[in-house]
Amino acid sequence: MIKSQITVKLLLANSKPLLLRPLISGPASAAFHTGRALGYQKEVHEKWSKTLLETKPADDDGSLNAKIDDSRFVVSWDHPSATLQQLHQVSVAHHQPKTFSDRIANKVLLLIRSSFDLITGYHHPPKGKEDDPRYQMSERKWLERFVFLESIAGVPGMVGGMVRHLHSLRLMRRDKAWIETLLEEAYNERMHLLIFMKLSKPGVFMRLMLLGAQGVFFNLFFVSYLLFPRICHRFVGYLEEEAIVTYTRCIEDIEAGRLSDWKTRKAPQIAIDYYHLPTENQTMLDLVYYVRADEAKHREVNHTFGNLDQKFDRNPYALKVIDDKGTPQPSTDLSAPKPTGWERREIAA
Ligand SMILES: [Fe+2]
Ligand SMILES: [Fe+2]
Repeated sequence: MIKSQITVKLLLANSKPLLLRPLISGPASAAFHTGRALGYQKEVHEKWSKTLLETKPADDDGSLNAKIDDSRFVVSWDHPSATLQQLHQVSVAHHQPKTFSDRIANKVLLLIRSSFDLITGYHHPPKGKEDDPRYQMSERKWLERFVFLESIAGVPGMVGGMVRHLHSLRLMRRDKAWIETLLEEAYNERMHLLIFMKLSKPGVFMRLMLLGAQGVFFNLFFVSYLLFPRICHRFVGYLEEEAIVTYTRCIEDIEAGRLSDWKTRKAPQIAIDYYHLPTENQTMLDLVYYVRADEAKHREVNHTFGNLDQKFDRNPYALKVIDDKGTPQPSTDLSAPKPTGWERREIAA
């Protein structure tokens, strides 16, 4: 029924300029190509005084103390905008496992989460015990948790995108635009990491943990994605559910005054640029709301991908659908949220 009501317009990003390219010549062509070049090779800075040869790696090692000019940060993937109301409406949700593979994905995730909690000394407070000192989280503890979480969360999108990219090349098959969304997710998670790295400098123990965790997780996820991509997306959906629990608790801590400084402290410049934070909403609290909303989108996208046919279904987040009747459809922003994912029967073909 949806099929007959909806005009589907499948447009891959940038397809129009590429099609128009041979038709444009002369001055228009020069302007067109300059436009393309500016779009890809972004302006980093206007004034420069030294060449790359004269720079020292120590000036910009990506660490907390690096001498980085934040005004030179360039956003590669523009972040979709969101209203305050949409950000505040994000909430904890759980996709009820329906199949045997859902239950496996859920159990594996819970096992990983409890091991992670044990290693990092995190105890989730039972209701009413949020103020109990045994469960209190300091700023340092929150940041350590975020850094660890984000460095792991950036792996699945990259692996999924890479595997699908290789499938497309090797099997000479269209990908139906899943790769773009998966790589964008990986970029978004890495942006979370870069933002929190501005506030926390991981010690040797944390760095070793990350090294080990990435080595193990990347390889396991890679093999699993080759064999069972659908279960992997469900697993990531459950992982994102836990990320939302974490950020929701952090928001509650800030608002209850247990991390009061974050109510007023300005977010790092890199976050302001990435999210285009409005002047009146640039605090750490605002930032955590934005990050949580990103995790909610990852939760939705991965649960949706976990419902789709991995080979034949289009990615509803990358291919635009124009709906004459206004039937809600998946979107990259927060305008049509579906925390536990969209079912195949709800998505226009
Ligand atoms: Fe994240
Ligand atoms: Fe995420």
